[in-house]
Amino acid sequence: MTQKYLDRIEAYLNGCFTNEQPQKVLFESMRYSLLAGGKRLRPTFVLAFCELCGGDIEAALPFAAAMEMVHTYSLIHDDLPCMDNDDFRRGKPTNHKVYGEATACLAGDALLTAAFGQLACAKLPPERIVDAVRVLSLCAGELGMVGGQILDMDAERRLCTAQEVYDIQSRKTGALISAACQLGVIAAGGTKKQQNAAAEYADHLGLAFQIRDDILDVVGDAVKLGKATGVDEHKNTFVRLYGVEQCKIMVADETKKAIAALNCFESPDFLVDIANRLISREN
Ligand code: IPE
Ligand code: IPE
Ligand code: MG
Ligand code: MG
Ligand code: MG
Repeated sequence: MTQKYLDRIEAYLNGCFTNEQPQKVLFESMRYSLLAGGKRLRPTFVLAFCELCGGDIEAALPFAAAMEMVHTYSLIHDDLPCMDNDDFRRGKPTNHKVYGEATACLAGDALLTAAFGQLACAKLPPERIVDAVRVLSLCAGELGMVGGQILDMDAERRLCTAQEVYDIQSRKTGALISAACQLGVIAAGGTKKQQNAAAEYADHLGLAFQIRDDILDVVGDAVKLGKATGVDEHKNTFVRLYGVEQCKIMVADETKKAIAALNCFESPDFLVDIANRLISREN
């Protein structure tokens, strides 16, 4: 779906965690999930926004890799028995099914830590690196993705309002997509206005993306998705509140708003195209 940047991203990730170490099993477990073939949406956003703002995508690759590492860690932990308890991810048995829960926890920990190392080692001006660290930690941590995950779990015990569902989804999924889009602008040394526009695009797109994820949990094909379906019936989603058909309209509306946020860029065609293709994605 995002072929334009994919080869670079795959090659970069494939070069990570290859050292022979006594803790070989940790490296294997990290690579097992990292290289299992996700869509690479978040690193693609880093590179696409970087290019859009006139930056060097080669120099932005560590930022892109950092986003995929944080995302992969979030998936490994999300699948654990103490969270969503899922057996399949990216078309393969989940990390803990292969390596056991303790190693899966540690693989996630190590991926998260390595992500900040990637940011620090990027060949970019130090002020851009500091800004990237600030944005990623804000979006990934207790106010962002991790905050959303705990709200998501807590909400399993009751029925949420639409505002609460919005809050859960914008944190658990939207925040990392926002970090990715903003990191692209930061890597390029873009303006605050561009960074805000990227964040607005991400807010709407992230919501559309999670609603589509929840639609696919009901109507999707597990083989195409690479993960089980019908597992979120007890979760608080817009699909539970409004049903699949209404949610398809919401996905289209949020996508329109995401695209409108790109107005301040000269040639955002690639990002417009990704947004449109995600409306009807099947994986
Ligand atoms: C899955 O994300 C988790 C959600 C936020 C819905 P993706 O659908 O981007 O998963 P991969 O990276 O392609 O496996
Ligand atoms: C994903 O939400 C959120 C994070 C992994 C942070 P889900 O729990 O709906 O994601 P899937 O469906 O397992 O990919
Ligand atoms: Mg979950
Ligand atoms: Mg899950
Ligand atoms: Mg889901």
